[in-house]
Amino acid sequence: MSDQEIRKGLAGVVADYTAISKVNPETNSLLYQGYPVQELAENCTFEEVAYLLWHGELPDEAGREEFRNGCMTNRDIDEELIQVINFLPKDCHPMDVLRTAVSFLGTRDEYKFTPNSEHIRKIGTQLLAQLPTVVATDIRRRQGKDYIAPTKDKGFAENFLWMVFGDEEGSPATIKSDIEAFEKSLILYAEHSFNASTFTARTVTSTQADAWSAITAAIGALKGPLHGGANEFVMHNMVDVGSPENAEEWTLNKLKNKELVMGFGHRVYKKGDSRVPTMEAAFKKLAAEHPEKDAQKWVEIYDIMAKTMYENTSIKIRPNLDFPSGPAYYILGFDIEFFTPLFVMARITGWIAHIIEQYENNSLIRPLSAYNGPEERHL
Ligand code: COA
Repeated sequence: MSDQEIRKGLAGVVADYTAISKVNPETNSLLYQGYPVQELAENCTFEEVAYLLWHGELPDEAGREEFRNGCMTNRDIDEELIQVINFLPKDCHPMDVLRTAVSFLGTRDEYKFTPNSEHIRKIGTQLLAQLPTVVATDIRRRQGKDYIAPTKDKGFAENFLWMVFGDEEGSPATIKSDIEAFEKSLILYAEHSFNASTFTARTVTSTQADAWSAITAAIGALKGPLHGGANEFVMHNMVDVGSPENAEEWTLNKLKNKELVMGFGHRVYKKGDSRVPTMEAAFKKLAAEHPEKDAQKWVEIYDIMAKTMYENTSIKIRPNLDFPSGPAYYILGFDIEFFTPLFVMARITGWIAHIIEQYENNSLIRPLSAYNGPEERHL
């Protein structure tokens, strides 16, 4: 097989059909079941978007209530799972806790897994409801704070902020615009066609393994810095830059040393990530509303880094979604190492939709390789 036939990283390879989302790099657009993601972020709740991804249509009034109730009544995690979380080292990465929690829950699938769409949606509802409780429990135990039980009346975004920050003065759970900014990020992170973690989930599913295994593997794939882990590196880098005065030189140095600047570039979008304008606006609004957190500094650093990357790379590299979401999560008050778990809480919706789709028309995913080891030899 010649080198030309090998597509490293499967770049440019169309592996299958999907009806869940359409990424169009030519027009910088992203559609979930036909709807532009910007319109969904402006007009829908995150739960409505989850419903859309799993059912193909937005819910009517009755469907919305039923789905919302299903999510709210499933939020509690039991004492055994809390014990598992507390058993894990406090200095391991929070993505390891999340991956372990999903794996643990999978050992107790009370209905015994079947590849039936209804069953997979049930697992999806359980994970959509419980992953935020797992993440909030992990955040608070690391900070030496008591567990806050989930509410049965608040929406997804508000409930999560409440479990993490409580209702103390200044808590984002008490500030409507903070809740809205967070909810927008969840909608933008929900789905993105055959990205690495989704493709991982589909690959595992293609072997007819259960959805728990597929999600556990997808969490592993999302952890990597070239994928979901980038939002954490974005903020570590911004903290390293420190002040707007350093931002240009810092970025130029990275480019000079041929190092990656996290939060820039994309495998599919080469002229800009369709999700960035919505998230950038939400981040800048959030920063303007929090002068007490010196948040404007991050906006200045953001703008200078984006301009420097654009003007100093031959292919004019632009930010991806992780670049505005990183500092937005920081302003909301999340510890940086928890940024990727927030991404999981959103992307679980896309993963579940793809697991259902893969099962509906399955073919084992098993590419070929070109051997370049030693010629045949004998002992
Ligand atoms: N910083 C610096 N240089 C970058 C870059 C970045 N963030 N992204 C791409 N480039 C460079 C590449 O190194 C490559 O340089 P070369 O031609 O000298 O080898 C060139 O731009 C073209 O890269 P491209 O083919 O567009 O990238 P890709 O499709 O292989 O990789 C990513 C896409 C996302 C893996 C890559 O852009 C990246 O690593 N970005 C940083 C991590 C990140 O933010 N991930 C989240 C993605 S949503």
